Amino acid sequence: MNSYSFLDPVTREDMFYGYQEEMDYIVKKVIAPGSRRQSFFVDGGSRMGKTSLLLQIERHLRQSGIRPSNDDSDQLVIIPLYLDMLDLDPTLNGFLGRAALLLESYPSRYPIPFDISSRAAALLQSVKTHIDPFVPFTGAIYELEKAARPRQLRVVLLTDDLWRIRQQGRLTLARTLRALHIETWIQHAMAFVITGSSRDWGESLASPLENTLVYKELHVLDEKDALKLINKPTEEKIPPQVALRVYRETGGHPFLLQYVMSTLCDQEDIKQLTEEDVDQATKKFQRERRDFEHWWKRMSEVDKKVYRIFRKIGPETGIAVDEFVDMGLSVNKLMLLDSLRALKTTGLIREYPDNHYWLAGLWPARWFQEMR
Ligand SMILES: Nc1ncnc2c1ncn2[C@@H]1O[C@H](COP(=O)(O)OP(=O)(O)OP(=O)(O)O)[C@@H](O)[C@H]1O
Ligand SMILES: [Mg+2]
Repeated sequence: MNSYSFLDPVTREDMFYGYQEEMDYIVKKVIAPGSRRQSFFVDGGSRMGKTSLLLQIERHLRQSGIRPSNDDSDQLVIIPLYLDMLDLDPTLNGFLGRAALLLESYPSRYPIPFDISSRAAALLQSVKTHIDPFVPFTGAIYELEKAARPRQLRVVLLTDDLWRIRQQGRLTLARTLRALHIETWIQHAMAFVITGSSRDWGESLASPLENTLVYKELHVLDEKDALKLINKPTEEKIPPQVALRVYRETGGHPFLLQYVMSTLCDQEDIKQLTEEDVDQATKKFQRERRDFEHWWKRMSEVDKKVYRIFRKIGPETGIAVDEFVDMGLSVNKLMLLDSLRALKTTGLIREYPDNHYWLAGLWPARWFQEMR
């Protein structure tokens, strides 16, 4: 049976690999009590697993539901709400209106230990059309927060691709999220996890939220996690040199891994797979898929220059940030760090804890050669 899928975000827990540390950390911090809780911006390029991660975070928060404690006042009622900017009206009314409706209907889907009063429900229903949606939204949160006492309420907005909000509404939305985060009269009841790529994010969203959100970067899976993704669902039937080839070709990019594995597992006898089959799968992708058509266009000139260096050096050697200085790159350190971050969160290079960066997938590297 073919368990791999590259068409939809991962929903099955047993097909979700890597990002464990990020997930545990985010879940732990968004439910930290009171002012200690944190909100996050998860930076990941195209098909790097942003939606999959958010859905896993949602599941874990829902399972946490009510965080048990001997002391009632230390208990937390956790309500995660997943919002996809792709399928909602990209205005502030659209955004808060959807959050309000999800919140109002939450108890009909999952149990919570208090009722939503008719007053709170009326406020939530008016958010979508209110001239200043912040007012009824925070009013409702205040009501719910009171109803939840002595437990603490934590509503976590999991917002996918926030940057899709209309350009003219961005600053207002960013200021609204900031206000929701820092308003003390709603008793720290709100937290956020927002995904996107910092390249799409733009200044207008970034600056008001800079000090509010903790920044987390997505990255390619390391060898251990990538090999788990390759070997576990296939019960280790794939020849080890083929598994390694899949890892080296994709560099651990989650989507490319799933694509290659899904193609390979269509073959009758996976024990007979060869490295040539991996090559064929990558070629098939290039013939049939358009997922990364815009990869190249969205890279800045500096990104391209830096990536060219990685491609030239190849996968056997890492480069420390300071070493770039000697390579005749006429860019300052801030720009260099920005490009390294963009290449990393796009899944083209990997970072090691010693501040060295390495080329990730061999296949994308060849691909860029052709796109030049
Ligand atoms: N943690 C993971 N474990 C295994 N596979 C993953 C993981 N994350 C992502 N994938 C694979 O990558 C594909 C893309 O994932 P997902 O849709 O979550 O990415 P995304 O960053 O939200 O994409 P987009 O840029 O299109 O919004 C999934 O279909 C799945 O095949
Ligand atoms: Mg997505």
